[in-house]
Amino acid sequence: MLGARCLLRALRSCSSAPCPSPKPSAKLSVRDALRVQTASGERVKVQGWVRSVRSQKEVLFLHVNDGSSLESLQVVADSNLESRELNFGCSVEVQGQLVKSPSKRQNVELKAEKIEVVGNCDPKDFPLKYKDRPPLEYLRQFPHLRCRTNALGSILRVRSEATAAIHSFFKDSGFVHIHTPIITSNDCEGAGELFQVEPSSKAKVPEENFFDVPAFLTVSGQLHLEVMSGAFTQVFTFGPTFRAENSQSRRHLAEFYMVEAEISFVESLQDLMQVMEGLFKSVTAMVLASCPEDVALCHRFIAPGQKDRLEHMLKNNFLTISYTEAVEILKQASQNFTFTPEWGVDLHTEHEKYLVKHCGNIPVFVINYPLALKPFYMRDNEDGPPHTVAAVDLLVPGVGELFGGSLREERYHFLEQRLARSGLTEAYQWYLDLRRFGSVPHGGFGMGFERYLQCILGIDNIKDVIPFPRFTHSCIL
Ligand code: 4AD
Ligand code: MG
Repeated sequence: MLGARCLLRALRSCSSAPCPSPKPSAKLSVRDALRVQTASGERVKVQGWVRSVRSQKEVLFLHVNDGSSLESLQVVADSNLESRELNFGCSVEVQGQLVKSPSKRQNVELKAEKIEVVGNCDPKDFPLKYKDRPPLEYLRQFPHLRCRTNALGSILRVRSEATAAIHSFFKDSGFVHIHTPIITSNDCEGAGELFQVEPSSKAKVPEENFFDVPAFLTVSGQLHLEVMSGAFTQVFTFGPTFRAENSQSRRHLAEFYMVEAEISFVESLQDLMQVMEGLFKSVTAMVLASCPEDVALCHRFIAPGQKDRLEHMLKNNFLTISYTEAVEILKQASQNFTFTPEWGVDLHTEHEKYLVKHCGNIPVFVINYPLALKPFYMRDNEDGPPHTVAAVDLLVPGVGELFGGSLREERYHFLEQRLARSGLTEAYQWYLDLRRFGSVPHGGFGMGFERYLQCILGIDNIKDVIPFPRFTHSCIL
């Protein structure tokens, strides 16, 4: 085992520089094997799934993939190692020598000495077919198998890299990571889109109600982050959130991941917007650097033209318009909308799409929304009429709303009145307390993680960027 670790370490440090010789018989990931620059017969073991089998007169070619990279490792074997069980989709363990490949398509290949089929796969019954590039929509029927395709493999690796990049962005910027609860007794957004949580068997819990209060799956970690922002000036959370929205749309899920940040001593929306733009651009740069082949697959085969669209977003400064300006733009649009744009009415997807196009397909912040449209916690701008709050949404090409955020109402008396008007005073005493004891101006935002992935990769349907999508009438596996 120690040998394998040393080998891995040696190989990891050699992505561009010539690699020192690995030690014999090490277990190697496909990704690490492919990174070896100068292979000279090192004995290694590779485990994975067969992506192709090609038999020539005396030689057998296999491509083995283990999920560590888009590219598979070419295995070359004497035809006497061929067996009937060696089919597309089966799992294998291959031992042999890593050698320089005569082909220009890869640096190295594995000259097999032993091929063991670990698990059979009958190609007749296996719904995925060799060389197929089935549409993502078709693959959704097979949530238990679709991760074995190149497309889902790439999307899920990007998802994993983006997750790591988000954590590193916040860590590098000095934020403290908070695990906000999944079960909660508050409805942060007040939109009534809650899933209630109850024990499945009453018999095991004699009490009427397990928690003594109605409990729900969280719609947002914001209020818990706000608690923390009374002690830590910069906090973030990144976890699953749940909305019982009756929507089959291509940008809504019942369970999705949200990245949320809360910053104390922030006095302007512009300060928040800077962090939002910084997060989007830095995380995307990290993703492009860490898995360029996976991103390229999406940009080439799933969303042609997306590479240029993304570059356009990254090289321009994001724009800002007010909600009032947005409504004016929509009213003057030549396009007919299903929902007539009007001041005081929420923007619909069709409006968001139009606004982004109108702004030259550059992400655009829309700020200062009508007070009546927004939850109790958003800071009153004390303007008007018309009366607005310091809210901000970021609209992006292809997706529409990607971020939602605001300055929070940190002034005790303003908040007290807003809560009273909504009949929430009793339930939110603890929230008022935050304004009684060392209140500070603060603000924050949430970014839908799946929508972020859709936006950078150009994936049309949100169900294709999450491993196991949950939405109305569908909770498979
Ligand atoms: O705009 P929302 O509802 O904002 C909040 O929940 C705030 N409490 C966040 C905060 O300030 N801390 O949601 C934030 C983002 C949206 O902009 C959208 O990208 C995403 O979450 N989102 C969804 N993504 C997928 N499916 C859904 N049903 C979503 N609802 C919101
Ligand atoms: Mg929103």
